[in-house]
Amino acid sequence: MAAILQIKPITDVPADRRASANPRDPEFFQNPYAFYDRLHATDPAFFWDEYGHWCFAGFKDVSALLRDKRFGRDILHVATREEIGLPAPQPHTAAFDLTEKYSLLNLEPPAHTRLRMLVNRAFVSRHVEQLRPRIRTLANEIIDGFEGEGSVDLIKAFAAPIPAIVIAEMIGLPAEMAPQLLNWSNRMVQMYMFGVTREVELDANQASADFMDYLRTVIAERRRQPREDLLTHMLTAEPGGDRLSDDEVMSTAILLLNAGHEATVHTTGNGVKSILESGIDPATLFASEEQTQATAEECLRFDAPLHMFTRYALTDLEYEGIRLRKGDVIGLMLGAANRDPKRFADANRFDPFRTDGANVSFGAGIHFCIGAPLARIELQVAFAELFRRLPRLRIAEPPRYGDVYHFHGLEKLVVEWR
Ligand code: HEM
Repeated sequence: MAAILQIKPITDVPADRRASANPRDPEFFQNPYAFYDRLHATDPAFFWDEYGHWCFAGFKDVSALLRDKRFGRDILHVATREEIGLPAPQPHTAAFDLTEKYSLLNLEPPAHTRLRMLVNRAFVSRHVEQLRPRIRTLANEIIDGFEGEGSVDLIKAFAAPIPAIVIAEMIGLPAEMAPQLLNWSNRMVQMYMFGVTREVELDANQASADFMDYLRTVIAERRRQPREDLLTHMLTAEPGGDRLSDDEVMSTAILLLNAGHEATVHTTGNGVKSILESGIDPATLFASEEQTQATAEECLRFDAPLHMFTRYALTDLEYEGIRLRKGDVIGLMLGAANRDPKRFADANRFDPFRTDGANVSFGAGIHFCIGAPLARIELQVAFAELFRRLPRLRIAEPPRYGDVYHFHGLEKLVVEWR
């Protein structure tokens, strides 16, 4: 998930293909959909001035480009740093860089294929489906803890702990560690923001170093005493006879912990907000298993938690008349694609009864979210249990999104139910 920046400036773009929106402007990140509406009405393939690279907001383009093998999340397997003008690695972010080095999200085939095959088995639907009862119990225990209060910040009290505890337990780390894991993870993901400062880099690096120290101790314990958990599985699995190194296991565990909760927290918050603001009777949204699934899918489509992912052009190429050089960056706008009126009828309406719901919130192609089956179960259970237990739930304060365009999630969601 490293922050990818366009290195060599692109200058030859006609004025009518350019668009401007400041990702740090509160008016923009509180409601990026007004900008997306303008793009869909004019040109959804445009050069975003502030980012300095081409971006794609149309569903068809985003979906096709995520699958297009001429683009990759990494470039250093086909080019040197000098060739594309990437700066040398910085000593003060060495620990952070090490956590990223073997991250699935930064690899391309064949390295990506090998690592993904190994981890994938743990995340297939039939395997994670077994976690549903545990997730239901957890959601209810958490609600038991705050039900008497009558009002709560739902992000902190409910949305955040569920995915953090689930992924920690799955990897084989104690649930009590969840707050510490959240702390490390939150500090590390600051690195993916627009305009990172040196202070943020130093703090993210410290969090990475502490996270790795902790994991090294747990890995040593598992080597002495194997358990039935994902960490042990990763340490002992031998795909085609080769083993994962400790650094590979650490990178993967950190990626799973980071990717495994952040987006799910935001989707839970955004989804509860969408449901409450729609005015639809929640009882109808969770009346059956199928409707619960459809409601969760519409929450994912309508207010996606991750709005832009980038890719490098791996060669000089042309896409729909746009010429790209090897190393150029493109932005794929998932949140905008999900609101494309060419793909979805009445795209700006929250409609959990729609049948044209398949969205790109989990991406597509080789990097398609490995945790999607797990995230879907977490969301279905969290929404259904919350509205079953607190049917009078309503918003108590106007919710505000955090100052981060890429991660589109609420800072707070204060609700009440008496
Ligand atoms: C609502 C929740 C989630 C959303 C919206 C989401 C979204 C995404 C997206 C869009 C990608 C692809 C990024 C790209 O193509 O550049 C991705 C990849 C990934 N996600 Fe998720 N994710 C969620 C939950 C999870 C969970 C629960 C886990 C793990 C337990 C997870 C683990 C991963 C991993 C490991 C990758 C990298 C896969 C690869 O590169 O092969 N995600 N996710």
